[in-house]
Amino acid sequence: MDRNSIVRAALAVSAMAAIASAQTSLKDAFQGAFRVGAALNPGQFEERDARGAAIVKTQFNTISPENVLKWESVHPRADSFNFAPADHYVEFGERNHMFIIGHTLVWHNQTPRWVFQDENAAPLGRDALLQRMHDHIRTVVGRYKGRISGWDVVNEALNDDGTLRQSQWLKIIGDDYIAQAFRFAHEADPAAELYYNDYSLENPAKRKGAIELIRKLKAEGVSITAVGSQEHDSLRGPSAEEVDAAISELAATGVKVNITELDIDVLPRASRQAGADVSLKVDAQAKLNPYAAGLPEDVQQALAKRYAELFGVFWKHRGTVTRVTFWGVTDGNSWLNNWPVAGRTSYPLLFDRKGEKKPAFDAVVAVAQK
Ligand code: XIL
Repeated sequence: MDRNSIVRAALAVSAMAAIASAQTSLKDAFQGAFRVGAALNPGQFEERDARGAAIVKTQFNTISPENVLKWESVHPRADSFNFAPADHYVEFGERNHMFIIGHTLVWHNQTPRWVFQDENAAPLGRDALLQRMHDHIRTVVGRYKGRISGWDVVNEALNDDGTLRQSQWLKIIGDDYIAQAFRFAHEADPAAELYYNDYSLENPAKRKGAIELIRKLKAEGVSITAVGSQEHDSLRGPSAEEVDAAISELAATGVKVNITELDIDVLPRASRQAGADVSLKVDAQAKLNPYAAGLPEDVQQALAKRYAELFGVFWKHRGTVTRVTFWGVTDGNSWLNNWPVAGRTSYPLLFDRKGEKKPAFDAVVAVAQK
């Protein structure tokens, strides 16, 4: 073949690949490898955001609730639950035959202060807080028994150095609060998958802490299906090698690994930003928001390459990695427009603000077609 026909043939192949990926959904591309999902807001699961809802139905086979099952949303006051949004979330998942995730039962954030206090605002004792945790888990998990298939039982219990975070849960109940939460969840729905979920598990010290925690839970006979690695990543890191090592080492404890909150931040790192601590707030500055008018092509391509690299690792570990969930559907809905700096224009997902597939979408689908 002369050079021109080689070029023509190569163009034809890449055009075919583009057409194939345009027609393939994420869930079909990774069928048999792992489930692919997204975190949803009420506009999407109540179908007021018709475009968002349509993307979810076409592309994903598992969903997570971005906020509606967090303690402050579902159980805002001691004597009242707010189940309507969570009911709508679960009904949407059932209508569309999706694997429905619950997020999250026990966390130090988005949990009202009253949870840790008695009626006189004095700190609760161990037994009273355990009782409250038990009631909450029994009520929430029990309500969706057999409908929500997997729960993030405990979220972010570890510090970056791998020690247990000094949360109110730990201070009042003690180290065993994690095992207790898993026991209560298992009691409320024995068939549900139960997960420990955290960020920065590529950091060796934190990962060591997670591995010790999982081994301890298993040694105590606690039912734990998977560890959730959030993967709020950036263009710079973690590297594919670090993600690969983290998955291998976490899986060596005998649990599955789920990628639970994937996004890739292309914006400049705000000061003190590392991991995904939702309480971090950084003041807005123009230099922290460089792409308000649009994403430059080179950054768009860098994002696609980075997504391909990470999905290459997930693909290698398919079977061990049983789910990959994006934290949002389109760039316009991403929490990264408001964290850790409010009001930025962020581009961390596979669908743009118009709901169109970005080059990163094709790059991800291509990983499964190799
Ligand atoms: C975020 C939501 O996306 C935001 O809407 C909310 O304001 C704060 O929480 N780790 C988690 C998620 O486990 O629950 C967080 O979600 C993102 C970081």
